[in-house]
Amino acid sequence: MSAQSKQSPQPVQPSASDAATSTVDAVMSAAPVIPVIVVNDADRAVPLAQALVRGGITSLEITLRTPAGLEAIRTVAAEVPQARVGAGTVLSPADVEACAEVGATFLVSPGTTPALLDAMVASGLAVLPGVSGPAELMSVLERGLTRAKLFPASVVGGPAMLRALGGPFPDVRFCPTGGVSPSNARDYLSLGNVACVGGSWLTPRDAVEAGDWDHIEELARRAAALRP
Ligand code: 3PG
Repeated sequence: MSAQSKQSPQPVQPSASDAATSTVDAVMSAAPVIPVIVVNDADRAVPLAQALVRGGITSLEITLRTPAGLEAIRTVAAEVPQARVGAGTVLSPADVEACAEVGATFLVSPGTTPALLDAMVASGLAVLPGVSGPAELMSVLERGLTRAKLFPASVVGGPAMLRALGGPFPDVRFCPTGGVSPSNARDYLSLGNVACVGGSWLTPRDAVEAGDWDHIEELARRAAALRP
């Protein structure tokens, strides 16, 4: 038997569609910052999203870290048409399915596993899988994805890491998240391979709980002006 005939067929992995890639580009280019939102009360999600949109921030990541997350995505998707609402903290294929059902436009994960990546791609939604370095990024690239979240950005090397990744992976565009703030966001946004950053600072817990939408609008307005 020749060496060639012994090879077993390569598994066919799902690969990202052009439509999903162009949607993720629209999500990343809408504004310099994607807010990472934790909602404890789904009823607050709509006024919160409207405040962010008024401030010029239209791609919104609502995390699945609270039981209210999925319902918040559903109501914002239905009631705030100016926003592109995505799901964050997507950890499993079951999460992917639940997010698709409630109308999420995009999916963000803090890291990757083969099963999660396959489910994200198979959903046909725009995706920003989380990577912390080259090995995870290569699994992402194997599935035809060239957009990723770098997480936790400030811990895994910050702007220096992104510059280093730009050598072997010049076509990848990142959304660094984790430790990004108004004081360092421009250090990231000035890099050619950074399309936007993510962060929780636009939606401080006390302001959300107090319903201080004017303050959140103002934080959004400042974030929208961050492009270097
Ligand atoms: C995330 O999940 O992306 C982070 O929790 C957001 O990080 P930050 O709170 O440092 O902005």
